[in-house]
Amino acid sequence: MEPNDTATRYDQIAHWWQTKHQHSTYGIAQLERTIKFTSLRHSALDVGCGSSGRFLRILSQHGFQAEGLDISSEMINLAKLLHPEITFYREDICCWIPPKPYSLISAWDSTFHLPLNVQEPVIKKLCEALEPDGVLLFTCGGGHTTSEISGVFQGQNFEYSTLGVDAFLRILTSHRCTCRHLEYDQYPENHVYIIAQKT
Ligand SMILES: C[S@@+](CC[C@H](N)C(=O)[O-])C[C@H]1O[C@@H](n2cnc3c(N)ncnc32)[C@H](O)[C@@H]1O
Repeated sequence: MEPNDTATRYDQIAHWWQTKHQHSTYGIAQLERTIKFTSLRHSALDVGCGSSGRFLRILSQHGFQAEGLDISSEMINLAKLLHPEITFYREDICCWIPPKPYSLISAWDSTFHLPLNVQEPVIKKLCEALEPDGVLLFTCGGGHTTSEISGVFQGQNFEYSTLGVDAFLRILTSHRCTCRHLEYDQYPENHVYIIAQKT
């Protein structure tokens, strides 16, 4: 599925997402774990931030200058209403050029929607956008090899792709990032989160 089609589907559920996730703890312990690895608290970017801005709120509380990016206009419009003080980018992460280096980048359940052929360039882009010692958190499908699946969520059909865990680890290493933590946090679901740090 092309990113613009993913955006159209998320536009349809942006209100639901905000109500459901504004106070959700899903992924928050994992974000807190990621923050513990940081030595610098300059700018932080949440890729695919959604409409609740829940990661942005935590990042701001920890002293980061938090910024949110999302391809869905509705997600961004709603997030702006809740967090008028935060900088938001309505952009596709595949085409976006980071304007600055970041101390922390999170991509919680967002890059797993990208088409297979852009998984590697996007993870590379996120690694390159980190400051020295900067930390990346992202989720991915935890299979051994590349795969693509689709599924219905809140009445919308979504697609997901993964390169497989070993390939993601190779990409991180080849872009000067070391894996600090990898966990199948919803086992036996094939959902993995990875924390990596720039050397
Ligand atoms: C499952 S939601 C997760 C939202 C948020 N990270 C959270 O946990 O509350 C996925 C989000 O990723 C965004 N997204 C998907 N593909 C994207 C892309 N190519 N560029 C930027 N955002 C994207 C969607 O619009 C959606 O808001």
